[in-house]
Amino acid sequence: MTALIQPFLVDPIMFDGPVLVTGAGGCLGAWTVAILQASGVPVVAADLREDRYRAELVMGREAAAALTWETSNVTDFRALTQLVEKHDIRAIVHYAGLQVPFCAADPALGARVNVEGTINILQVARDKGIRRTAYASSVAAHGMPPGGQYKATLYGAYKVANEQTAYVYWQDWHVPSVCIRPNVVYGVARDQGISAKFTLALQAVIEGKAYDIPYSGRLSWLHAGEAAAAFIAAVSQEGDGAYVFDLNGGCETVEHGVEILRECAPDAQITVSGAPFPFPPDMDDGPIRAHLDFPSIPVDLGIRSTFDAFVDLHKSGRLRPLT
Ligand SMILES: NC(=O)c1ccc[n+]([C@@H]2O[C@H](COP(=O)([O-])OP(=O)(O)OC[C@H]3O[C@@H](n4cnc5c(N)ncnc54)[C@H](O)[C@@H]3O)[C@@H](O)[C@H]2O)c1
Repeated sequence: MTALIQPFLVDPIMFDGPVLVTGAGGCLGAWTVAILQASGVPVVAADLREDRYRAELVMGREAAAALTWETSNVTDFRALTQLVEKHDIRAIVHYAGLQVPFCAADPALGARVNVEGTINILQVARDKGIRRTAYASSVAAHGMPPGGQYKATLYGAYKVANEQTAYVYWQDWHVPSVCIRPNVVYGVARDQGISAKFTLALQAVIEGKAYDIPYSGRLSWLHAGEAAAAFIAAVSQEGDGAYVFDLNGGCETVEHGVEILRECAPDAQITVSGAPFPFPPDMDDGPIRAHLDFPSIPVDLGIRSTFDAFVDLHKSGRLRPLT
């Protein structure tokens, strides 16, 4: 087991069967399958493709190779149902989705994956009596409805549709769910999406390259392991409603994050420019922490441990270089 996931291990007794993780090839999916497997919880990783690269970064090559992995498209309801039946799935952590730039580039595909895909998850939970479902919304939901303080995006519109759909699934059919809106995630395996720039900058430092982070000022800092731990906590008990929680992590300026990085690497060629990130930096974690128990990673510690992990990954030749 890698030192990265040690702080997030859970007691397998809390689970009553295999956990399906959709979008397992992504950043949060990689952390989630790594933590579950290392904890001894049966887990099925599912994604469009069998690409274990991010899982390997988080859990190591051997452990990633040992994962049960299914290639599956969340927009294909029949295939999803077969997968759930095949593995007798008892809990679902649903991450499969397209982020802001991808939804903007292909809005119809964004809706199929983010909206229809989540409906399929709720429907299979309804059909199979699964009472432990957690799914990822986003801070971008705070940009809706348009005209408010924060930026409206198609991605945010789709995430709000998910939240409202889940509410109706509970109201009409008693299908429970926990929705978590992660704010800006950083950490090993965070390499795509508009909010990935700090982690990309950290990797650039390790590769000896210059990097400009195109937003400044106050930002949310949510360690990827902390985010994954919250989703795991959400399915470690049966649901009794359709909850929606913000998950912020710390709140510090981008400039302060870069200072911490410079303490790790005094020669770092990192600049910070542009306006603040267009979403709230300091959402209240009180409600989710009152509902769920999971570790919190202070920003300083999170950045330093991420830096150390990237150094090791770079030295062992396991990091795909920045393009
Ligand atoms: N990373 C963040 O800062 C952040 C913040 C808020 C919300 N989220 C949400 O959390 C979830 C996971 O985020 P992430 O950073 O791990 O994302 P990611 O982009 O790294 O991974 C998403 C994964 O979903 C898969 N996928 C896409 N379309 C699919 C389909 N049709 N069927 C099956 N799989 C499909 C992709 O192949 C990818 O591996 C997403 O829903 C995202 O919107 C992430």
